[in-house]
Amino acid sequence: MSRKLIIGNWKMNGSLAANEALVRALTSAGLAEKPVDCAVCPPSVYLAQLAGLLQGSSLMLGAQTVHARENGAFTGDISAAMLAELGCKLVLVGHSERRAGHGEGSEQVAAQALAAVRAGLLPVVCVGESADDHDAGLMQDAVTSQLAPLAAANAEAGGTLLENLVIAYEPIWAIGSGEAATPQYVSVVLECIREWLAETAPALEEDKLPRVLYGGSVRPGNAGELLALHACGGLLVGGAALVAEEFIAICTAAAAQA
Ligand code: PGA
Repeated sequence: MSRKLIIGNWKMNGSLAANEALVRALTSAGLAEKPVDCAVCPPSVYLAQLAGLLQGSSLMLGAQTVHARENGAFTGDISAAMLAELGCKLVLVGHSERRAGHGEGSEQVAAQALAAVRAGLLPVVCVGESADDHDAGLMQDAVTSQLAPLAAANAEAGGTLLENLVIAYEPIWAIGSGEAATPQYVSVVLECIREWLAETAPALEEDKLPRVLYGGSVRPGNAGELLALHACGGLLVGGAALVAEEFIAICTAAAAQA
């Protein structure tokens, strides 16, 4: 298996002092010597602070969202080029909290992913079914319909989008609930996403398929069994990413499975 990717999504949490303490703990944990890729996504106002703190570190910097356009009259928004200039390597797009709270639909999410790739960033496209779709057993349908607009965006980008992104599967009912999906359940959906990727980008060899992550109530106690899944390329971590020892434990578990 290849290296796993562990991303900490800090959401709307942090302060100058708390960020500094957390980053110092993470960068002194020896993760650079381990076979794992790790990233943190702070609120955008702290990206410049973290870019400074992460100088010379292997820990990658990411943003939580990006606008699809390059510049213009979009008050409050941030472009992909701005993120790249600050030192970001990746950006989350389509997180369920953005979809729910900011009305971002799957077409828009695909456009954001495309803008990210064009600026040299790795888009992490988040998908996942609602509690209702979960109850109705419609998780694969929900996820593939969220992925669908990526096919047209990939064609528009001459096939370069799907080979340069990451998909994060986050069942909405598992986010922040303390109850992660079971490995069996996660495996079914991750395999479905990999099949969709293989069908949509047939030129990609199996070992070149984008990494597919799981997110939703990941903790040190369940990280290992999720990472052991054949299709699991890493984890997107919310609450546990704010606690240095927990995030380090999850990254260490991922290194053990590389
Ligand atoms: P959680 O959040 O780990 O707190 O469930 C995950 C996410 O929303 O990315």
